[in-house]
Amino acid sequence: MTEAAISLCAAERDGPTLTWPEKRLSVCVDVPILRTVEAYGDGSAPNLLLHGDNALTLAWLLANGYRQKIRLIYIDPPFDSDGDYTSVVRLRGDGAKVIGSRVQYRDRWQGGDYLQFMVERLLLLKELLHPDGTIWLHCDHRASARLQLVMEEIFGAESYLNTIAWRSQVARGAKVHARYFPRSTHSIHIFAASPQGTPTWHPPRKEIVMSRAEAAAHYMEDERGFFRTSHPGTYSFEKLVQLHAQGRIYAPHGGNVIVDEANRRVYASNGGNIGVKYYVEQRGEDRFFVTRAVDNLWDDIPGLGTIPSEDVNYPTQKTEGLLQRIIETSSDPGDLILDAFVGSGTSVRVAQQLDRRWIGCDDNWGAIRTTARRVGGAKKGSREEERERGVEVWQAGGATVPTAEAEMNLRVDMVAGGSVQIRVEGYRSAALIEQLRVAGKEIPVDWRAGVQSVAIDPDYDEQIFRPQIIDAPRGRAALVAGRYSVPITKRSIAVQIVDVLGDECIHVFSPL
Ligand SMILES: C[S@@+](CC[C@H](N)C(=O)[O-])C[C@H]1O[C@@H](n2cnc3c(N)ncnc32)[C@H](O)[C@@H]1O
Repeated sequence: MTEAAISLCAAERDGPTLTWPEKRLSVCVDVPILRTVEAYGDGSAPNLLLHGDNALTLAWLLANGYRQKIRLIYIDPPFDSDGDYTSVVRLRGDGAKVIGSRVQYRDRWQGGDYLQFMVERLLLLKELLHPDGTIWLHCDHRASARLQLVMEEIFGAESYLNTIAWRSQVARGAKVHARYFPRSTHSIHIFAASPQGTPTWHPPRKEIVMSRAEAAAHYMEDERGFFRTSHPGTYSFEKLVQLHAQGRIYAPHGGNVIVDEANRRVYASNGGNIGVKYYVEQRGEDRFFVTRAVDNLWDDIPGLGTIPSEDVNYPTQKTEGLLQRIIETSSDPGDLILDAFVGSGTSVRVAQQLDRRWIGCDDNWGAIRTTARRVGGAKKGSREEERERGVEVWQAGGATVPTAEAEMNLRVDMVAGGSVQIRVEGYRSAALIEQLRVAGKEIPVDWRAGVQSVAIDPDYDEQIFRPQIIDAPRGRAALVAGRYSVPITKRSIAVQIVDVLGDECIHVFSPL
C-alpha cells in the first residue's frame, strides 16, 4: 500500500535564516493518483515524464519507490522575475509567418509565496536525493542569495558545495550600457544531500582553442612546438634524467641542461631554475589546444542566443553544453537523474544521450509535449539498456492538455496485404482561425502550415496513446507529410494532431 500523504519538515539548524510572512519549513501533500497517458517504445523500466504540479508529482515519486533513488537533481525553476514566458506562434512552411505568441508559464508571486513554493519543492526533492547525490539549483540575481540561504536551512550549511557563475549571455546592444553593469550570468547553487554524503564527482576539464598567433603570445616555442614550463617540484633525479632524455627539461637564459651524475643534480648552465616543458597540442596547421581544470566561473559554455540550432521555441530554454557538464560531473551512466522543472527537456535529452535514466516533471503540457518530441529525436546513448528504455508520460488529476476545437479530415483506405493508408486532407481549428484573424493573416491554403506534428497509434486501447508514427519535422519551413501507412490491428486507430498553437486533437476510428 502506498502512503496517502507525504509530510516533511526541515531539521532544526543553527546559523542565519531568512524569514518571510507565513514561513513554514514543512510540506504536507496528499499523494495523487497518476495515470499513464502516452508511451514511446516499450522498455520495461521507462524514463518518466510527469505532468502536473511538481508538489504532487514529487510526492507521487516518494510514495512509489523513488525515496533516496536520485543521484542528480537539476532544477531550473521560475526565477521570481514578475514576468510571463511565451513561445512564438508561427505558421510552418515558406516564410514561417509569426501569428502571435502563447504563454507557456507565468512567474508572478506575492509576498513570500515564491520562497514558500521553493521550500516545499526543496523538502520533497531532498527526500528523493540519494545520500551521495547532489542537487543543482539554477537561478539568477533576483532570488540567488535568498535561495542559497533557504537551501542551507534545508540541506545544512555544511552541505553547500559551490555556486557556479554561468555566463549565459554576452551583453550586446542597449544592455552594454546597463546601469551598474550588465547582468550576464546566472547562478547555479550546488548542495550535497547531507554533510555526511560523498557526492559522485568527476572534475571536468575544459579545452582552450588558440590560433598560432594566440599560442605565440602566451607560450614559448622550440622545434617541437609551443610549450609552457612548470617547476619540477619533488621530481626525483631519475625522473628528471628521463624527462631530459625526452627533451622536456627547459634551461632559462639560453643555457643548457647539465646532468651531474656524481651529485645527482640536474641544473641550468646559465643559472636560474630548470622547468619541465608541457607542450600545447596542435591539430591542423593553425589550431592549438590545451586543457584546463574548470573552476566555478563557466564562461566557456554559450547560452541559447549563440546556438540557434538548439532552439525549440520554449522560453528560458537552457543549452545542452551546460547540462552535459553538470550531468557528466555529478553522475555516472545508468544513474537516475531528476529535473522537476523540465521545460523544453534540455536536461533529460542530454541525460538520454549520456546513458543516464531520467525523470522530468512540468505542470505545463507545452513543456511535456516539447520534451516528448525532443527526447524522441535525441541521439541515443551507447548502452543498450538505455537505448531501449522508452518513455512514459504520466498525468496527475487536474493537469490539463490544451485541446483544439477542431475538424480533422481523414481519408482511410484499406490496402490488400493488411495495411491501412491514412491521408490527412484537412485540419481546421477555431482557435487557430481566430488567431489568424487577430494577426490579420489569411487562412493558409495548405492545412499543413497550421500543424506542428501528426502522430498515429494504430493499436489504440482508448487509454494510453502509443504512437508508432511521429511526423514532427524539424525546421520552420518543413511540413508534415500528411500520408501514412499503418498495419491493421484488432483495435482502433488514433490520429493525433498538434497544431502551431500547441493545441491538440485526437481522432479515433476503427478501420474494420
Ligand atoms: C525556467 S523553465 C525550465 C527551462 C528548462 N530548463 C529548459 O531548458 O527548457 C521553468 C519550468 O518550470 C515549470 N513549472 C513552474 N511551476 C511548476 C510547478 N509547480 N510544477 C511543475 N513545473 C513547474 C514551467 O512550466 C517551466 O516549464
